[in-house]
Amino acid sequence: MLGPVILAASRSDRMRRFVSAAPGTKQVVARFIAGESVDQVVPVVQDAVAKGLEVTLDVVGEDITTREQAFAARDAYLELIEHLKELDLGTKAEMSIKLSMFGQALEGGHELALANVRPVVEAAAAIGTTVTLDAEDHTTLDSMFAIHEELRTDFPQTGCVIQAYLYRTEADARRLAASGSRVRLVKGAYKEPAEVAYQDKAETDKAYVRVLRVLMEGDGYPMIGSHDPRLISIAQELARKAGRKLDEYEFQMLYGIRGEEHLRLAAEGHRMRVYTAYGTDWYGYFMRRLAEKPANLLFFARSILTK
Ligand code: FDA
Repeated sequence: MLGPVILAASRSDRMRRFVSAAPGTKQVVARFIAGESVDQVVPVVQDAVAKGLEVTLDVVGEDITTREQAFAARDAYLELIEHLKELDLGTKAEMSIKLSMFGQALEGGHELALANVRPVVEAAAAIGTTVTLDAEDHTTLDSMFAIHEELRTDFPQTGCVIQAYLYRTEADARRLAASGSRVRLVKGAYKEPAEVAYQDKAETDKAYVRVLRVLMEGDGYPMIGSHDPRLISIAQELARKAGRKLDEYEFQMLYGIRGEEHLRLAAEGHRMRVYTAYGTDWYGYFMRRLAEKPANLLFFARSILTK
């Protein structure tokens, strides 16, 4: 029951100010956020790659309110790409982007987000890597899929995310799997109404398996974004049944969550990509991580109280 309350708080400015100022917050945030600046995240990337992992980098931030912030988001990714160019890691280091950080919710936001994201996708392609568009709340998805399709005209390797908890997702998966794109499947992390999404975790898990089957049997490149041990073994089984080789799909998990499992899957020969978030605007991302596991909230509360 705590999850929805935390998710509601993730969009409250008052809570943002309270949580950001609380003593002990930084220490807990550091578990999920790999650094505040690009200079801090580069060694994290190098360490992951040295361990046989791959990464997708996310400059944290979302729901911005001015065009200047949207341009700053674009520039932060362009700065990141300059650093990745030096590292020369190709697709071992790709990027994840939230279009709400690129201006999608502002007036004329669809066009603004597309205009802002295009140079990032272009610059990524120029250094031999790519971008995946994250899925945010359901009201943003038609625009996200349209931008994804538009970008794929010139950059077919551009990926997108679909969320198993939404009723629409099986149909989206059929459309995307047929077109050969890179698709990350996740359970879904936002507070969504019953009109559009399963409210029951077990229903979401069942939907995840149905959608995953569509992706595995299709022509695209499935990216399994989950820490759930049951879903991971089902994914391995579905990949085997679909005749996919180990490099024809990949697992993805979040930085700071089930780190031993990242290494175990990589050691088994799987492509294992760690979603590595960094930056200063971590509030929304951090609150979703708390909502996913109430034990995190207890840990957080304890660290505040003991400071
Ligand atoms: P589940 O929540 O059932 O967790 C399974 C197990 O994993 C738990 O029992 C626990 O051990 C561990 N675990 C999971 N979350 C944890 C946490 N926060 N702290 C500690 N342990 C935890 N969502 C979205 O809506 N749009 C998006 O674009 C993305 N992108 C994305 C990328 C990647 C690489 C991942 C892994 C996830 C996302 N998500 C996302 C988030 C996703 O929707 C979902 O909320 C989380 O992955 C948690 O779901 P699981 O599948 O891990 O299962």
